[in-house]
Amino acid sequence: MGNIIETKGLNVGYGPIHVIYDLDFEAPENQVTVIVGPNGVGKTTLLKAIMGLVTVYSGKVVFLGEDVTKLPAHERTKKGIGYMPQVGNIFSRLTVGENLRIAAYTVKDPSFIKDRMEMVFNLFPRLKEFTMRAAGTLSGGERQMLAEGMVLMRDPKVMLVDEPTAGLMPKLVNDVLKKLEEMAETANLPIILVEQRARRALEVGDVAYMMRGGRFTFKGTAEELLNHPQLTEMYLGAVEAHELKHVKE
Ligand SMILES: Nc1ncnc2c1ncn2[C@@H]1O[C@H](COP(=O)(O)OP(=O)(O)OP(=O)(O)O)[C@@H](O)[C@H]1O
Ligand SMILES: [Mg+2]
Repeated sequence: MGNIIETKGLNVGYGPIHVIYDLDFEAPENQVTVIVGPNGVGKTTLLKAIMGLVTVYSGKVVFLGEDVTKLPAHERTKKGIGYMPQVGNIFSRLTVGENLRIAAYTVKDPSFIKDRMEMVFNLFPRLKEFTMRAAGTLSGGERQMLAEGMVLMRDPKVMLVDEPTAGLMPKLVNDVLKKLEEMAETANLPIILVEQRARRALEVGDVAYMMRGGRFTFKGTAEELLNHPQLTEMYLGAVEAHELKHVKE
């Protein structure tokens, strides 16, 4: 089995701020690849580099065997790299239906758009009820459904998803992650998932990476990482950081 996305010796940053160091990353076709790690370690930056939204200092981004490092983001979208950003992923003033249609702007075939809309509504029946509602009036969980539906409308060959459960009630977290898994199966779509809720994400994942300080400290199967001390350390680290913050306040 080949890889849908690879990076080789990737160094990335924002101007002079170096964030990602010599990263070799492989996301296999037809699998869910999960990237976990504490705040600020470079997870979003890696997704942005794959999408072409940050400056790559050196190294390569490879999509289905093709070097896309020099391509602008919209060219990567056309080639089939779908991206659901951590924030700002829907148009609040437009209706749900308008959001979905706009998302399909790269698709020429109207019958594909119709079929794809059906698929999105089958996955997320609630969106169908809300076609005429302004997207800004949706709940947090419903917005995530819409944002995922929007990426699906573009017929991506891979989907990068940045913290789809952020800000959601614990009760909804499982639903959102289970839906992603279902989506991966229904649309036969490999997914690269960044999540803070590591344990839950690893339960739906196949391949796993742990990131710290712009480097990978673990690569393996999701199951291995679930049973690895690094995962517990990450949670303990998060607790400490939280407590420190509390003390400061
Ligand atoms: N536009 C920017 N300009 C300068 N520095 C940035 C910019 N965006 C992010 N950074 C810095 O790069 C580092 C990595 O940020 P990134 O957003 O990739 O982290 P993350 O792992 O996704 O964190 P989180 O889990 O909180 O979303 C952080 O130190 C952040 O402050
Ligand atoms: Mg992030």
